[in-house]
Amino acid sequence: MATSRLLQAPGATITGWGVGLPDNIVTNADLAARLDTSDEWIVERSGIRERRIGGTSGSLAVEAGRAALKDAGVDPASVDLLLLATSTPDQQMPATASFVQDELGLSGGACDVNAACSGFVYALVAGYGMAALGAQRILVIGSDVMSRITDQEDRGTAVLFGDGAGAVVLEATDGAGQLLGWDLGSDGSTRHILYADHRAHTKMDGKEVFRRAVRVMVTSSVRALEAAGVAPADVKLVVPHQANVRIIEAACKRLEIPTERAALVLEHTGNTSAGSIPLALADAADAGRLDDGDIVLVVGFGAGMSWASAVLRWAR
Ligand code: UT7
Repeated sequence: MATSRLLQAPGATITGWGVGLPDNIVTNADLAARLDTSDEWIVERSGIRERRIGGTSGSLAVEAGRAALKDAGVDPASVDLLLLATSTPDQQMPATASFVQDELGLSGGACDVNAACSGFVYALVAGYGMAALGAQRILVIGSDVMSRITDQEDRGTAVLFGDGAGAVVLEATDGAGQLLGWDLGSDGSTRHILYADHRAHTKMDGKEVFRRAVRVMVTSSVRALEAAGVAPADVKLVVPHQANVRIIEAACKRLEIPTERAALVLEHTGNTSAGSIPLALADAADAGRLDDGDIVLVVGFGAGMSWASAVLRWAR
């Protein structure tokens, strides 16, 4: 984790990004028409106004991955490794990454990573690690179809989750690369507060997840920032897991980072689990919110509980 070690190893940089979202938009009004809920409640408690529903983790990952490769100008046949973060795989086996590898015509290895909503950051950090081991081009995707494991009659969860994917291309650099510090963590003793059994719907103790989410976002971010030798005040953009705007606001406040520096897409996507952080990163980058040299903090949390943070110096 120490910065000095990262500086000695070959690094990598994000050179392209892309997203995959279903066409079908479900608004809060659509949900209020069939559930005991309201647009007002959902917006006030979560910040979500609409979400996209449809597709499969594989199909959305293909869309995002294809767009990211095009954006980076990278030939799919030159990719060394695909890391696909998902907790809603299309099949029990093989990995959904096998489908994506075939559809995109990737060479090299392909596997899924399951760390629930933290999965993309786990895969991203592992991707930088693989660059240190000699991989030249790595495709990192987060893709989830949460609607498949959500009880659409349960107002406690149906209003929160959506479907979507985001992807980045990592390319090896001669120098140190983008990753300045990272933190990965897990507390499996709390796995009962958010889970989905095989062929069953997601069960969540929302209040408990909320409380712990704020805490682990802060402690994990601080650890990654300390490893990077960066002060919170120097963070130009925070790319947090998009679960609830109140969780993001509370964590930013405790980190003393203005909430205006957070990338937010949940208003239009809902919580897309592993898709959420790359969707928010792509949105911020496309909006011109990132310049070379900017310090970026990506931070996720989710079922497990798991959490993951990375501090990057943006460069394209
Ligand atoms: O990727 C990680 C996944 N999950 C999360 O990050 C979720 C974390 N938790 C949360 O985001 C919030 O806890 C929720 C948005 C789930 C709930 O917000 P809250 O402010 O904690 O509300 P609450 O659970 O305390 O519920 C308040 C009231 C309850 O009614 P009573 O007991 O006060 O009469 C609920 O039954 O709101 C009721 N309620 C709803 N009302 C309208 C719960 N869901 C709904 C709903 N519409 N959809």
